Amino acid sequence: MRIGGTHRVLTKRWDIEDSHLLSTYDEGERYQQLHRALTKLSAAEIIDEVKGSNLRGAGGAGFPAGLKWSFVPTDTGKPVYLVVNADEGEPGTYKDRFIIERDPHMLLEGIGIACKAIGSHKAYIFIRGEYTGPRRRLIHAIEEARAAGILGESAMGTGYRLDIHVHRGGGAYICGEETSLLEALEGKKGLPRVKPPFPAVEGLFGCPTVINNVQTIASVPAVMEMGGEAFAKMGHERCGGPHLFNVSGHVKWPGIYELPFGTTYRELIFEHCGGMRGEKELKAVVPGGASTPVLLPEELDVRADFDSMPNAGSMFGTGAVIALEEGTCMVRTCLRFLEFFHHESCGQCTPCREGCGWLAKIVGRIEHGGATRSDVDLVLEVADKIVGNTICALGDAAAMMAPPMVKKFEAEWNRHIEDEKCPFPKERLEKNRTPEESDD
Ligand SMILES: Cc1cc2nc3c(=O)[nH]c(=O)nc-3n(C[C@H](O)[C@H](O)[C@H](O)COP(=O)(O)O)c2cc1C
Repeated sequence: MRIGGTHRVLTKRWDIEDSHLLSTYDEGERYQQLHRALTKLSAAEIIDEVKGSNLRGAGGAGFPAGLKWSFVPTDTGKPVYLVVNADEGEPGTYKDRFIIERDPHMLLEGIGIACKAIGSHKAYIFIRGEYTGPRRRLIHAIEEARAAGILGESAMGTGYRLDIHVHRGGGAYICGEETSLLEALEGKKGLPRVKPPFPAVEGLFGCPTVINNVQTIASVPAVMEMGGEAFAKMGHERCGGPHLFNVSGHVKWPGIYELPFGTTYRELIFEHCGGMRGEKELKAVVPGGASTPVLLPEELDVRADFDSMPNAGSMFGTGAVIALEEGTCMVRTCLRFLEFFHHESCGQCTPCREGCGWLAKIVGRIEHGGATRSDVDLVLEVADKIVGNTICALGDAAAMMAPPMVKKFEAEWNRHIEDEKCPFPKERLEKNRTPEESDD
């Protein structure tokens, strides 16, 4: 797996041996930006800097971080919480894991600065259950920071009380959705809440809460160090800074690429990732995790950022790019994604609970035989009934991913129905899978 790209802002310490330890983070940097935030800057000044940086939420929706922080009421008399979303369940996404593994202190420093900005003294990191190694590193980093007096009753000797707790998730994709995450953190079943009230007003334990993705918060020390304006300039239009693109699939060099927002997918795949393995043709690109509508090879000149992608009929998502080579069955790909969404639906909303299951069943019939032409129309119809009719966006994700898979590869879907089976040779699929991957 490669670490590449044109920038070294978030990845600047990743090549250093023991980059996860405080001793290596210390060198020349000893939480300088946190110290400055705690001693020299007001909350409003920090928020202004972050607003000016155009830092966008890296958890998928791209909400401006500074704006989110500014919504937190400061006069309720209740504690304010910061919750860091390290659930990272979106298929294809693995950037947060690397931030935690390679540079947990950068995340902790970002947490401290964000806490000062929103008037919080306690932060929680909700980390996915499967991330056992990263969790150990995170806990060790927090212990190091406590022992060094960076966290505690008087953070860095400034009199500001600051502590961070790690909470292990139970391995449910839905708990990455911010309100179900809060439910889970409160010890309840991870079912999404109806909004409003929004977490900024009524979040964890009924108190004002900011929820941000790991990468969003880990970017904050860089914003403070270089200044919001300089950070904004590194990106494209209203998306500031670089992003950690995590690329998987059939490219020559899968990996994490730190590149400015606005880089095109063509450049990412063919320049940074070395193009397709075995010089095969590229067939399709899933641009931002399984929830995002697929792009065709001729659509790859769109800029990879939150504002450009909707113009191309897709979404930036988490920047988790999955490149698929010629010969990949798109019906089967769609089925895999639908099975995931069906399995992970919390079941609270009928359109998602039933709809994701129906979609998986119909597409399964198309893939394995026994479908009629009307089944393809049924996929579109069921998807249409899900969008906008659920509490959270899980159902929307399934319902917005599936139709472009059908419409952009219509001939392939029709061929499945005519042949009454998948036209792609099964042996080929098996050959490309490792024994561990093989599940059928
Ligand atoms: C089903 C579902 C799963 C999600 N999973 C994650 C996740 O694993 N990590 C994450 O940061 N955001 C996830 N999100 C987005 C969060 O709800 C929320 O928008 C995000 O944590 C806010 O942080 P940001 O503004 O820094 O992006 C998910 C959303 C949905 C609907």
